[in-house]
Amino acid sequence: MNRKWWHDKVAYQIYPKSFYDSNGDGIGDIPGIISKLDYLKDLGVDIIWLSPCYQSPLADQGYDISDYYKIDPRFGTMEDMDQLIAEAKKRNMYILMDLVVNHCSDEHEWFRRACEDPEGKYGNFFYLRDKKEGSLPTNWRSYFGGSVWDDLPGTNKQYLHVFHKKQPDLNWENPELREEVYKNINWWLDKGLGGFRLDAIINIKKALPLHDYAPDREDGLCSVQAMLKEAAGIGKFLGEMRDRTFQKYDAFTVGEVFNEKPEEIPDFIGDEGYFSSMFDFNETIFGGSEKGWYDATPITPDDYKECCFAAQSKVGDIGFLSNIIENHDEPRGVSHYIPEGDCCLESKKMLAALNFMLRGLPFIYQGQELGMENVPISSIDEVDDISARDEYQVALKAGLSPEQALKVIARLSRDNARTPMQWSDDPNAGFTSGTPWLKVNPNYTSINAAMQIEDADSVYSFYKKLIALRKDPDYKETIVYGGLEPLWRDRHNLMAYYRKGDCTLLVVGNYQRKEQEIKLPGICRNVLLNNYKDIAEDKGTITLHGYQVLILEMAI
Ligand code: GLC
Ligand code: CA
Repeated sequence: MNRKWWHDKVAYQIYPKSFYDSNGDGIGDIPGIISKLDYLKDLGVDIIWLSPCYQSPLADQGYDISDYYKIDPRFGTMEDMDQLIAEAKKRNMYILMDLVVNHCSDEHEWFRRACEDPEGKYGNFFYLRDKKEGSLPTNWRSYFGGSVWDDLPGTNKQYLHVFHKKQPDLNWENPELREEVYKNINWWLDKGLGGFRLDAIINIKKALPLHDYAPDREDGLCSVQAMLKEAAGIGKFLGEMRDRTFQKYDAFTVGEVFNEKPEEIPDFIGDEGYFSSMFDFNETIFGGSEKGWYDATPITPDDYKECCFAAQSKVGDIGFLSNIIENHDEPRGVSHYIPEGDCCLESKKMLAALNFMLRGLPFIYQGQELGMENVPISSIDEVDDISARDEYQVALKAGLSPEQALKVIARLSRDNARTPMQWSDDPNAGFTSGTPWLKVNPNYTSINAAMQIEDADSVYSFYKKLIALRKDPDYKETIVYGGLEPLWRDRHNLMAYYRKGDCTLLVVGNYQRKEQEIKLPGICRNVLLNNYKDIAEDKGTITLHGYQVLILEMAI
């Protein structure tokens, strides 16, 4: 594997709307991010991925872009963005933007022109079909519910949107559209961006000709996945995009890729891959159901372990996964992956260490370094997330009571990750001096950055140690490039693995509240990290405390 500039880095995702509000309008903004760069630098972050802050009606919180060359005034100005890139550079940090090119906004000029003249140039930027009374062009269900087809305003046509109806899909088969996308990417890279996160990228290739698939719910529709499984030839688009843009700049790209087939991994993230890296979503998607969120199976510690190990062995040393515990589309990791009732300081740190020491590039999502948790909700009216609102209806239709449906939403809503960052115990968690656009999690008085920075035993301080360990010249080679070997894989509620490079590290976590014994498989030379003050050891047998995690350097 060729070595790349970003391999030994640590990445951090910012959701700009909820990070820090500099002007009191209740919405986080770019000047707010600039003012927190030193906080991130101090934590040890090198690469920052910004969720979209382009001009947008914010129907899907910015994942619906109406001008790829503009910053939305709610987030700041282009000067602010230039300044952010420059200030990051001064600190040896890199800024990634979100590349959202499966679709644009229905308020983008291309779409408006397509409505005016569907037979003209811009009609071919989208998937348009003639409207037929009583039937739809295909029976696909949008990711956010309902048909993927809606009427093209002012015409006798319909347009395709695999996400929200305000997110029309772009027609990648059209070379003119692709040229526009590459031009935009290069324009941003010329500004000095470090690269991009590629949103929903697997959706850009449709199976042609568009056609129906077997319905999978009573609505008579089928998941978009059915079509994607059949869509072949995405490599042509992805390879062309890489060659015309990223490669020339040695930019870093991370793909939002779900359900990749093992044989595609070298093409995606091998030495000559389309992307630098892609997220490991194995844990994220575990337990998902075709029927909807209400039918999802909760993930257990043993499942979590197996998901991580399966992803690791699938990729091996072909390339570099990007490892996450959460992102802006997921519930808070500590609420999701730690058994109910057990979310505490120790378990949060255990989860952090188990994930952070995996082979790959670690991404921290804002607030994860504080152990931020899911937000309590008492009514569906409090929910902003369009996906959660749809899933609430799906659950009701399936026969759940409003209380039960709300419970499902509370567990999985994307709002959980989108509540304002908890900076301090000041009003509104120190996020804004105005009224926050989304309710602050009431636990901010006990979970916040200001308190945790001062506390050597906080989750924040633990993350800081994990990051420092990854950068420690004595262990860096092993942590970044060493192989991963699972250990005691069959043991219940125990996750352990070796990282083997020029030294041998053992990472072991007791993924339960009860104590658990392990027999050390050799001599421990050094305890690199421990989320407890002590290790209960007797002649090579360690009795791990509940949720204890250890990172040990072994003498082998
Ligand atoms: C990705 C984004 C998500 C968005 C969707 C449509 O999955 O992460 O937030 O809703 O794409 O752009
Ligand atoms: Ca603001």
